[in-house]
Amino acid sequence: MSDKADIYTRVTKEILAVLEGEHNEVARMATISCLLHEAFEDRIWTGFYIVDPEKSEELVVGPYQGTLGCLRIPFGKGVCGTAAAELVTQVVEDVHDFPGHIACDSRSVSEIVVPVRNDRGELIAVLDIDSDKPAMFDTTDREALEHLVIQVFTSGT
Ligand code: SME
Repeated sequence: MSDKADIYTRVTKEILAVLEGEHNEVARMATISCLLHEAFEDRIWTGFYIVDPEKSEELVVGPYQGTLGCLRIPFGKGVCGTAAAELVTQVVEDVHDFPGHIACDSRSVSEIVVPVRNDRGELIAVLDIDSDKPAMFDTTDREALEHLVIQVFTSGT
């Protein structure tokens, strides 16, 4: 199996190639969810929670791959809500130690949640990846995923 950084390099190229010229946000999120989920083992959920424009400070589930996700998460709740409220990537080795964690799937153990901004710097979504194994995410994931969402959702980069 290739090194994790190599897989990110390959899958990022693939995502950017597939999405060239496609500006629809649902299409972008669906493509990223699919290709990231398929590129790695030991992941039970890969997808997006979108900032709901009709509700104040609430995320609603967007395109994803994996088991059933909760529909809505208020800002500040769980790992996704914390990433949205603080605008900072969350890397959690064991969600059982994370206060207020939302267990959409009881098998979830470790996760990473990356804030997604548009070209005006506004939060539009979070990218959430969950594993059923502990400590599956580290700095390599954080850097690769932060770079990916900037490339895809921030025009001119
Ligand atoms: N684990 C997340 C909830 C969403 S899902 O697991 C798909 C959280 O605590 O934010």
